[in-house]
Amino acid sequence: MFPIEHSFRGARIIRGDSLQVIRSFPDALFGGIITDPPYASGAFDQNARQKSTAQKYSSAKQNCAFPDFEGDSKDQRSWTHWMTEWLSDARRCSKDGAPICLFIDWRQLPNLTDALQWAGWIWRGVLVWDKTNSRPQKGRFRQQAEFIVWGSNGHMPTDRDAPVLPGVFRQSMPAAPRRIHQTEKPLEVMRDIVKIVEPGGIILDPFAGAGTTILAARLESYPAVGIELSDYYANAAAKRIETGALSAA
Ligand SMILES: C[S@@+](CC[C@H](N)C(=O)[O-])C[C@H]1O[C@@H](n2cnc3c(N)ncnc32)[C@H](O)[C@@H]1O
Repeated sequence: MFPIEHSFRGARIIRGDSLQVIRSFPDALFGGIITDPPYASGAFDQNARQKSTAQKYSSAKQNCAFPDFEGDSKDQRSWTHWMTEWLSDARRCSKDGAPICLFIDWRQLPNLTDALQWAGWIWRGVLVWDKTNSRPQKGRFRQQAEFIVWGSNGHMPTDRDAPVLPGVFRQSMPAAPRRIHQTEKPLEVMRDIVKIVEPGGIILDPFAGAGTTILAARLESYPAVGIELSDYYANAAAKRIETGALSAA
């Protein structure tokens, strides 16, 4: 499978496997990594994890129309190993002090913070994304939050050119029909998160999905590179970035 690339005004979407594509980048290229990997979660056991992503993550009928996405059926040990592997490569091609932010849910939170540190990043904290809504279950707490684990490639000076940013984001999931991806993240939240990267730094999203991070980066004037394994989503991301960047111009 060879990478196919779309480029538009400082935004690149590469269709390929991030594990392989990241290895082709030179050392210290990126100013920050902002991403939302497949959680390989949404299930309590290995059998349930093998279900399609639509079965695991879509409750509303209209959402079943979204195509499934890749890489979501690993068991917890192989997921953690795989995460450690690409996170190590991503660190090599990140500048000293570069920030990293990774979306995750409650089930994989401990594995992610292990993988991040095994890969040599400094773990600096966990942000909360309050989705404001979730399936109500009697006698249970609502699972209405997801998390963003963040860290840096070594020492991160306090005089970096980046603003004070919130630790909690309150924003509902993008609604259909505007939504393109089953697990699409809100553009407004991404536009805040990318600001942790110093101006001019190239942002890498190795799991671009419908391109939310890359569009947010462009709207905030960062150059950005996204990698996406699925043909369908790589094309959707490229189209969305072009349309989104043009309408904001
Ligand atoms: C959680 S989704 C990202 C959604 C994205 N944040 C958005 O707002 O649209 C993760 C994406 O990673 C892609 N993916 C899974 N394994 C991959 C791999 N090895 N290389 C590149 N992309 C991969 C999936 O196809 C999926 O679209």
